[in-house]
Amino acid sequence: MKKYDRTYFDRWYRGRTRIGAEPVVRRKVMLAVSVAEYFLRRAIRNVIDIGCGEAPWLTHLLQLRPKIRYVGYDPSEYVVEQFGESCNVRPGSFGELAEMDIRERFDLVVCADVLHYLHDDEILRGLPAVVRLIRGVAFIEVLTGEDEVLGDTVALMRRHSNWYREVLSEVRLTQVAPYLWTTPKIAAASAALERP
Ligand SMILES: C[S@@+](CC[C@H](N)C(=O)[O-])C[C@H]1O[C@@H](n2cnc3c(N)ncnc32)[C@H](O)[C@@H]1O
Repeated sequence: MKKYDRTYFDRWYRGRTRIGAEPVVRRKVMLAVSVAEYFLRRAIRNVIDIGCGEAPWLTHLLQLRPKIRYVGYDPSEYVVEQFGESCNVRPGSFGELAEMDIRERFDLVVCADVLHYLHDDEILRGLPAVVRLIRGVAFIEVLTGEDEVLGDTVALMRRHSNWYREVLSEVRLTQVAPYLWTTPKIAAASAALERP
């Protein structure tokens, strides 16, 4: 079973094989915040980050929106122990979200670099619950079989992009920007060419 422990994060987030340098994360955060605020027509107030790891989004979110409320979920014991208190990271996996009955709705839902490590059944089980959390947009960054992959390929599920497009459209999400999907309500209120 794959371990997301300190050694994993040292290797992929700090070592020579490092992925996701700070400016790269910063650009993703700026994109997601801008698109969420564009459609919501106001500043975002809260963010949920599923499979948040060491919560690399939080620093950038706070720089852009200092009053933001952030919660991360991750099944890794290391992550929860190290970042639980300082970053409000709680234990939980994508598939478990359905049973958690989270009542809050979020202006921005983040699930970055996670789904391609999960089995189909977990994605299909968790996705309806994730969709219910979205008030604005969801940033769902996922690698597909068509992409060149630099980084951790252990247990990587190389699905075709159409698989993701289909499951996301089955839960009635509409793509509005790179890796960004929105709700039927927001999509219905948008103009035709605001949706790519
Ligand atoms: C490649 S890291 C990405 C971390 C973070 N999202 C980022 O962008 O830096 C994958 C993360 O997914 C978490 N993870 C593993 N299995 C998961 C699951 N079933 N549900 C949610 N997160 C999971 C791992 O603990 C790890 O933190």
